[in-house]
Amino acid sequence: MRTRKEISPQTIAIVKSTAPLLKQHGQKITARMYQIMFEKHPQLKAQFDMSAQANGTQPAKLAAAIQNYATHLDDLEKLLVMVDKIAYRHIQTQVLPEQYPIVGECLLKAIKEVLGNQVSKEVITAWSVAYQKLAEVFINREQEISQTTSVT
Ligand code: HEM
Repeated sequence: MRTRKEISPQTIAIVKSTAPLLKQHGQKITARMYQIMFEKHPQLKAQFDMSAQANGTQPAKLAAAIQNYATHLDDLEKLLVMVDKIAYRHIQTQVLPEQYPIVGECLLKAIKEVLGNQVSKEVITAWSVAYQKLAEVFINREQEISQTTSVT
């Protein structure tokens, strides 16, 4: 999986070191992330199955994806199957490249809020870089799939 910019080894090490924290608090973080996002951008609710929000299914899936990413961000090939599955769902639900920064901002806010002083500024910066990389991976893959297949 090729992307334009490589993440520095230091950023990779910081993000990987937070994998256990994310495992422990992942669902709380993603549930809060959706809360922040739907409060700030209520129009996005139309793209989501809101019952999967209420019963926690979607926050759990996002938490698992983030945890998986934190573990494998130095070997993105291992994430191919996960990325493809999510990318198809994103295409079905008309996710747009310009929506990625919105999710990123809400996710970082939620990480800061839930983990508080358990995370340093360096950790937040590392996650911000790592998120941008993941967003780039998704945007590229979603574009590729949309150009070559018709997803229904
Ligand atoms: C790197 C960032 C992102 C990650 C890791 C991620 C992860 C996921 C995961 C794990 C799923 C569930 C897929 C499944 O059901 O198998 C999903 C679905 C979805 N994602 Fe994302 N996503 C990201 C960015 C976005 C963005 C920017 C949007 C735009 C608002 C978005 C909107 C959606 C929607 C609408 C669904 C379908 C949810 C439903 O069925 O209710 N995602 N995403």
